[in-house]
Amino acid sequence: MTKMPKPLSHSGRAMGCSSSPHNPSSSSHLSFFLLLFMSLSLFCPCNGQNSLSQGQVLRDGETLVSSMGTFELGFFSPGNSTLRFVGIWYRDISVESVVWVANRENPLSDKNGVLTIGSNGSLVILDGSNSSVWSSSNSSSSSSQFTNSTAILMDTGNLILYPTEDTNDSSGSLWQSLQHPTDTYLPSMRVRVNSAMGENRAFTSWKSDSDPSRGNYSMGVDPRGTPQIVIWEGSIRRWRSGHWNGLIFLGVPNMTANYLYGFRLSSVESDGSTYFTYTPLNTSDLLRFRISWEGREEMLRWDATGNEWTILQSEPVNECEKYNWCGDFGICNIKKSPNICSCMDGFTPKYAEEWKKGNWTGGCVRKTELGCGKNTSSSLEEGGGDGFLEIEGVKLPDFADIGSAKNANDCEANCLNNCSCYAFSYLSTVGCFVWSGDLIDVQHFESGGRTLFVRVAGSELASRKISTILIIVLVVIGSFLFCVSLWLLWRFKEDVKACSILCCGSRKNELPLFDISNSITEPSSELSGQYDLEAKQVNGPDLPLFNFNAVATATNNFSEQNKLGQGGFGPVYKGKLPGGQEIAVKRLSRKSGQGLEEFKNELVLIAKLQHRNLVRLLGYCIKGEEKMLIYEYMPNRSLDKFLFTDQSKQNQLDWRKRFQIIEGVARGLLYLHRDSRLRIIHRDLKASNILLDEEMNPKISDFGMARIFGGNQDEANTTRVVGTYGYMSPEYAMEGLFSIKSDVYSFGVLLLEIVSGRRNIGFRSPEQSNLIGQAWQLWNEGKVMELVDPSIASSCLRDEVKRCIHVGMLCVQDSAAQRPTMSSVILLLESEAASLPLPRQPTFTSKRSDIDSDHYFDENDVNVSLNNASITRVVGR
Ligand SMILES: *[C@@H]1O[C@H](CO)[C@@H](O)[C@H](O)[C@H]1NC(C)=O
Ligand SMILES: *[C@@H]1O[C@H](CO)[C@@H](O)[C@H](O)[C@H]1NC(C)=O
Ligand SMILES: *[C@@H]1O[C@H](CO)[C@@H](O)[C@H](O)[C@H]1NC(C)=O
Ligand SMILES: *[C@@H]1O[C@H](CO)[C@@H](O)[C@H](O)[C@H]1NC(C)=O
Ligand SMILES: *[C@@H]1O[C@H](CO)[C@@H](O)[C@H](O)[C@H]1NC(C)=O
Ligand SMILES: *[C@@H]1O[C@H](CO)[C@@H](O)[C@H](O)[C@H]1NC(C)=O
Ligand SMILES: *[C@@H]1O[C@H](CO)[C@@H](O)[C@H](O)[C@H]1NC(C)=O
Ligand SMILES: *[C@@H]1O[C@H](CO)[C@@H](O)[C@H](O)[C@H]1NC(C)=O
Ligand SMILES: *[C@@H]1O[C@H](CO)[C@@H](O)[C@H](O)[C@H]1NC(C)=O
Ligand SMILES: *[C@@H]1O[C@H](CO)[C@@H](O)[C@H](O)[C@H]1NC(C)=O
Repeated sequence: MTKMPKPLSHSGRAMGCSSSPHNPSSSSHLSFFLLLFMSLSLFCPCNGQNSLSQGQVLRDGETLVSSMGTFELGFFSPGNSTLRFVGIWYRDISVESVVWVANRENPLSDKNGVLTIGSNGSLVILDGSNSSVWSSSNSSSSSSQFTNSTAILMDTGNLILYPTEDTNDSSGSLWQSLQHPTDTYLPSMRVRVNSAMGENRAFTSWKSDSDPSRGNYSMGVDPRGTPQIVIWEGSIRRWRSGHWNGLIFLGVPNMTANYLYGFRLSSVESDGSTYFTYTPLNTSDLLRFRISWEGREEMLRWDATGNEWTILQSEPVNECEKYNWCGDFGICNIKKSPNICSCMDGFTPKYAEEWKKGNWTGGCVRKTELGCGKNTSSSLEEGGGDGFLEIEGVKLPDFADIGSAKNANDCEANCLNNCSCYAFSYLSTVGCFVWSGDLIDVQHFESGGRTLFVRVAGSELASRKISTILIIVLVVIGSFLFCVSLWLLWRFKEDVKACSILCCGSRKNELPLFDISNSITEPSSELSGQYDLEAKQVNGPDLPLFNFNAVATATNNFSEQNKLGQGGFGPVYKGKLPGGQEIAVKRLSRKSGQGLEEFKNELVLIAKLQHRNLVRLLGYCIKGEEKMLIYEYMPNRSLDKFLFTDQSKQNQLDWRKRFQIIEGVARGLLYLHRDSRLRIIHRDLKASNILLDEEMNPKISDFGMARIFGGNQDEANTTRVVGTYGYMSPEYAMEGLFSIKSDVYSFGVLLLEIVSGRRNIGFRSPEQSNLIGQAWQLWNEGKVMELVDPSIASSCLRDEVKRCIHVGMLCVQDSAAQRPTMSSVILLLESEAASLPLPRQPTFTSKRSDIDSDHYFDENDVNVSLNNASITRVVGR
């Protein structure tokens, strides 16, 4: 590795930018200046100049140093090469890390080169015979003469050329190195995304470690559909990040938020173009992306203690990540190694022999031609009788178009009616993705994938149904045999209880696989018809049915010590299965008449929901009057315990955690409102219904009151108002009207509670009776930071907190129409640049007194406890 020249180091001429440009060859002057600079350097070790003025000359061996000393510019030889290049590298780290090269195609063969500003005002590199090998502008026609141009090396690694000596006005720059990147994407650099201008291959790899000239690989943005990061080899795609949904790239499974690995990625709008940019969360981190000469995208962070660059992320990591590894209509799943490729349902390998040998490049073809467009009887049907098969958890195919559709149903219908539409996928933040060609580069993810609907001929759908039925029949027979053997086992062993517990416990990790739950029945003789009946009543979701005795044993016979709390419909117990897995058991109280209704509701709902921010249902249990829901256990219990109890608990939630909780809840809610195929309104969002796992990730729980909405339904009216004081929106509390916007209201209240660490009601300040009122008042007085929980005052980011409160205020506006949707909430929360609309004053306060004096209120139908428990009341109309 070649040593980087350091300013003021051994080399006699390394003296920062020469300050005697008019007499560079005078050796007596030189030694005089050398002495001068060396003595100066004793007092100021950071004494490299950061700018080069017109007329000054930077020789090989001399360097410019940015003002804080992060970056250095000068001549260097990469790797084993002896050729000389002008580049920019990190100054204070021991590993050669060049981030930009000027003359990558035209190296100098000796050390006689200089960097200077030519008479026409451009930066130029001249070789020993004064001929130009590189210039910052390649048009020689420009007549404008800038006689005072100045180049300045910034601490962002940007070399900026200004037309005058005034280097304060960045808009007036003539040229910037960050706008002409080589292989490295530095923080604060902006990568243009402009669909009209097509692909932007901003970065080109080096040829090798020792040769910075243009290599075979490039990296940049493809704006089609929504932007994606792509790596090309020549013009062939080698990797892509998947589509940008406004926050993340959908094809990078580790990217669960727009900040990860210590940086935050965002898109900004400017002069009609969108740009990607990223910033380190910790400003002292050195971060960079680059396209390596071997064609890999790498995200690097400098590890000062280990003295090396840590590779945080590198793509492609495996064969499945490689572009279209399984060919068209194939799906790659790395977990199935070595047979990682399979065809989509309804498709078969194009070259069966090659496919078997593991040569998947041929891809797959349809088993049955589509009905659409064919001149057959079926073509009279809508969409030619075609239908869609669902593929879950995938990286969506390349070359998507954004169709116009208001919701998932529209999206499906539009695709069905268009014979050239081969697949669709509806994403709430983006809309309706449609594909009208072969489905290319589809990969299966363990988590974080999206759902793709692939068009197949109607007959494929039918045959698939038949095979599903076959499987079900087989499973039923299998379960029957299993049941019989269980029964035999029971006949010969007394220890049935343990066995049945084992059965419940053993399937804890993989559900819903298939429904053998009906076979895990009670071994008692009164294996009742009633029992079966009830199981059917709840529509038997694909979830394990737990044995009552097993649950009783797990919860220590529902002992007081195991009781976690009291929910709206009954107590919740902690339990432990024989396998060691901890569970939470919600036992519906026998008295509550509504119980079965809510029970069915919750069961059917949650069984279909899968989201990181929703609590996971493990199974259920029904025996006679007893109805129970078995959930994963959340060691950190609920959010209200942290927010509202004591100082020490509050301290455990610093601002970052709180913000993550806010974002998590927002995502969970967005999933309920838009992303899940059902449209669900929770109706009882509150701090005590937000559970926290061991890493303090929030999970929304308690769907007992949730309602499913039809695709086009926006609002409903109920005569039974359920919810919790303080979280109910005005239109819901007063008129029984609910919509997704009533959940948004509850979210707004929750958000303000998380920021302030105080309950909306039950909180009293001298002037205002509730938190919303106080928030509004402080907001108006410009003292909004006074609302912030004192225990996070030190850890919080002021701007982020302010934005949160602002969003909270928007969510609790009286008018449902003016409240943002959850997708806007997420965008507003996470984009620093977005300008927020001004909130209107919230006047409604769902104080206890308001509701009590409400004449609709029927005392007899209420189970009320202030603040915490949910209420149910009947509105007589
Ligand atoms: C430099 O050359 C040595 C020996 O030929 C080789 O081992 C090393 O990998 C080379 N380094 C680079 C960066 O090319
Ligand atoms: C290059 O230009 C400089 C200044 O303009 C001059 O002093 C020097 O002699 C020139 N060198 C050659 C080889 O022409
Ligand atoms: C150099 O010239 C080419 C072709 O004329 C042009 O596309 C390119 O933008 C120019 N580069 C610069 C730095 O002006
Ligand atoms: C400026 O001069 C350099 C070399 O002297 C030349 O390569 C470049 O094209 C010129 N640029 C303009 C804008 O005239
Ligand atoms: C260049 O700078 C000098 C002194 O700073 C000033 O007198 C002169 O007008 C400037 N020339 C131009 C073209 O800006
Ligand atoms: C440039 O900005 C610095 C500080 O921001 C200021 O001190 C200086 O006067 C400015 N220079 C000009 C020419 O405006
Ligand atoms: C780049 O492409 C050339 C020609 O196809 C090939 O010889 C060379 O090995 C490639 N380099 C890399 C790093 O892949
Ligand atoms: C930022 O990073 C530095 C060095 O790694 C570390 O000392 C500092 O604590 C970090 N700051 C924050 C806020 O994490
Ligand atoms: C994602 O993260 C896991 C563990 O954090 C790591 O093993 C894996 O390589 C990462 N995947 C990618 C594509 O970076
Ligand atoms: C793989 O299959 C394709 C398509 O049949 C064929 O063209 C190609 O030669 C095969 N490659 C190898 C390495 O066998």
